[in-house]
Amino acid sequence: MLLLLLYKRTPLATLQHEPVTQPIEFDHRHHVADDGIDCRYCHNTVETSSSAGYPATSVCMNCHAQIWNQSPYLDLVRKSYFTGQAIEWKKVHRLPDFVYFNHSIHVAKGVGCVTCHGRVDEMAEIHQGPDMQMSWCLDCHRNPKPNIRPRQYITAMIDPAPGQGTFETHFSESGSNTSQSPTTMNDVHSRTSCTTCHR
Ligand code: HEC
Ligand code: HEC
Ligand code: HEC
Ligand code: HEC
Ligand code: HEC
Repeated sequence: MLLLLLYKRTPLATLQHEPVTQPIEFDHRHHVADDGIDCRYCHNTVETSSSAGYPATSVCMNCHAQIWNQSPYLDLVRKSYFTGQAIEWKKVHRLPDFVYFNHSIHVAKGVGCVTCHGRVDEMAEIHQGPDMQMSWCLDCHRNPKPNIRPRQYITAMIDPAPGQGTFETHFSESGSNTSQSPTTMNDVHSRTSCTTCHR
């Protein structure tokens, strides 16, 4: 905790808002919106580990060995594949080291990607959605209910029944009793103690 109290808002802590130039012009709009590839096809550790991870080159080559296999935009992908040298994707979101975060618990409890990352399917380049300050984490941790959805919609970018409130109100009202509520089904609790995120 002492280290925490000494922490100042250094430029490092605000750097996360600077645009990041990636080694390859990868565009989520083409892959997610146009081709409908699920997030987990590429970020395949998001359900099992603290980190969502970046796709291995072989995942890109599952498609790009056949399609756009002459494209100059994919030179680096082919080079990486044949040399075995990983593509160095740059991190866009970065929490300070003294904060503990874990993707898998959020996914298991029904917090959707779009809630924290925004409309990735509309981003040419990924930029940070919400400002990931402590108050942002805490606002949800105090009262997670409005942000909980059924697990099968975890990667859905839009509500399948828009205009009917949040996933939570939508699903709890559509059922005859509150056991239909995703918050109840996923056994979601409020977590506000400091040691949840500072260990
Ligand atoms: C499931 C198939 C699939 C996978 C996996 C895939 N892509 Fe693609 N990619 C496509 C398709 C289809 C297009 C063409 C999209 C369009 O133009 O609408 C495309 C287009 C591209 C383009 C633009 C090419 C050009 O000449 O304009 C780049 C760059 C690209 N992909 C990079 C990647 C990278 C990097 C990965 C791995 C992280 C990857 N793709 C994984 C299907 C895939
Ligand atoms: C075809 C593979 C592919 C798919 C599908 C895909 N991504 Fe990505 N994603 C990438 C690659 C490659 C990067 C690193 C380059 C970049 O930032 O664009 C990335 C980066 C990101 C980042 C930035 C991570 C950071 O560094 O902070 C987020 C957030 C993200 N993806 C979320 C999603 C979500 C949400 C979905 C589903 C709606 C999704 N992605 C679908 C390949 C993919
Ligand atoms: C509760 C908020 C939250 C949810 C839900 C969430 N993320 Fe993240 N994501 C974050 C934060 C915070 C980071 C930065 C983590 C860090 O710096 O340690 C991050 C980082 C990432 C990264 C960069 C690699 C990494 O793991 O650090 C990717 C890729 C990503 N998220 C994809 C996804 C996908 C795909 C989903 C949905 C299946 C998702 N995220 C759901 C908050 C969230
Ligand atoms: C939109 C809602 C939401 C946001 C934003 C959010 N979380 Fe969570 N978080 C949850 C929910 C729901 C749980 C599961 C609570 C439970 O145990 O039922 C959780 C659990 C956790 C846990 C695991 C707690 C444990 O005891 O195992 C950690 C660690 C965590 N969050 C860290 C963070 C951090 C750090 C941030 C901000 C960078 C953040 N969360 C932002 C909803 C959120
Ligand atoms: C849900 C996750 C979460 C919980 C719970 C939480 N924090 Fe944080 N805390 C963060 C994140 C994320 C940051 C880094 C971003 C920032 O500086 O706002 C942070 C930053 C800090 C900092 C650095 C100074 C600052 O404001 O930037 C201090 C000190 C701190 N937390 C103390 C605490 C104390 C004391 C508690 C308990 C009352 C607590 N935190 C509970 C997520 C959390």
